[in-house]
Amino acid sequence: MNTQRRWMLYGAYGYTGKLVIDEALQRGHRPVLAGRDARQLQSLAEPLGLEWRAVGLDDAAALERALHDIDLVYHVAGPFTQTARPMREACLRTATHYVDVTGESPVTQETFAQDARARQAGVLLLPSSGVNTVPTDAVAAFVHAQLPDADWLEIAIDTVHQRSSGSLTSMLEVSTLSGQVRRDGRIVDEPIGKRLRQVRFPDGRKHCIGLPFADLYTAHVTTGIPDITTYVAQDFLATRFMKYSAPLMRKVFANERLRRRLQDEIRKRVAGPDAATRHRDRTYTWALARNRRGEVREAWLETLEGYTFTAAVAPRIVEAVLASELTGATTVAAAFGPDFVLQLPRTWRYTTLRS
Ligand SMILES: NC(=O)c1ccc[n+]([C@@H]2O[C@H](COP(=O)([O-])OP(=O)(O)OC[C@H]3O[C@@H](n4cnc5c(N)ncnc54)[C@H](OP(=O)(O)O)[C@@H]3O)[C@@H](O)[C@H]2O)c1
Repeated sequence: MNTQRRWMLYGAYGYTGKLVIDEALQRGHRPVLAGRDARQLQSLAEPLGLEWRAVGLDDAAALERALHDIDLVYHVAGPFTQTARPMREACLRTATHYVDVTGESPVTQETFAQDARARQAGVLLLPSSGVNTVPTDAVAAFVHAQLPDADWLEIAIDTVHQRSSGSLTSMLEVSTLSGQVRRDGRIVDEPIGKRLRQVRFPDGRKHCIGLPFADLYTAHVTTGIPDITTYVAQDFLATRFMKYSAPLMRKVFANERLRRRLQDEIRKRVAGPDAATRHRDRTYTWALARNRRGEVREAWLETLEGYTFTAAVAPRIVEAVLASELTGATTVAAAFGPDFVLQLPRTWRYTTLRS
């Protein structure tokens, strides 16, 4: 790592931030730790001998000052519906590369809409660069490369069975979204649970439900395929519960006061997965591309547990961005290729499955 290049980890003392710090240190990085709470930053950074900067996202001038000597911001403070825009704007104003780990698809869409501004500023914007959506996007890019005239893409993921409070509160922020798919290049609303199917994964066949993921945006940017459907694996009862309770849940969560109270309870009570779970669990993804002649290409990626993946990929993305001359709002697979993820430990891609 070129020690002249400096990067900032914003949201450093959150659950994901701390995992990213461990990985970054192991790869010889010395990130500047940042967030809005000076006390937490100081107690985290000083024992590690890392520089820290306390700055809120609501103070645009202070944020610009904090970025004056920073080449890249790795943003892991969510919910990104509240945090992405001020940081992304500060990055565009200060010509600083921006990477985030949002799974909230409206935020991903908003970041891609800044492509022209990013090119003009000479920076890369890489939204959704955690377990949502780097592994799925990599396997989508791979099947598209095998079948370049594909016009149909299905993607499924089985990951993160235990979530951090930050992930749950962020999910609630987009809980009023309907089911969505991409058709003829456009996002189309449909009822959640309209699409139920089984998918073969490397560890067996699983029930999946169609849910709108950031992949509806990232896979479209990466492959240009106009028809995209995204699925998540759940057990049979969970898929049926989601299908039948979704209309009621959407109404309940549309009540902002109730949503905020629930988020407060989650922050008090929920811890993320422990180290043993993060080491043991795995992430499985699948993508299928089809063209008008009915030709099909399928592939699977098996990789690290979701938070372990998000942390492990972070310093590698930093290295790739800082070594590249690319600009614009894009995806990790579009920028660095479908094989980029294969450098992660315990990560394999399959084009056939044995059983
Ligand atoms: N999609 C993926 O691949 C993926 C993977 C991992 C994490 N994530 C996302 O990353 C985010 C963080 O997750 P986590 O597990 O680390 O949650 P966490 O432990 O709750 O940490 C959240 C962090 O964000 C900060 N934050 C929240 N709102 C802020 C604001 N308005 N201004 C400044 N800082 C703010 C918090 O600081 P304070 O304590 O000062 O509020 C804290 O440092 C979530 O949105 C989660 O969904 C996504």
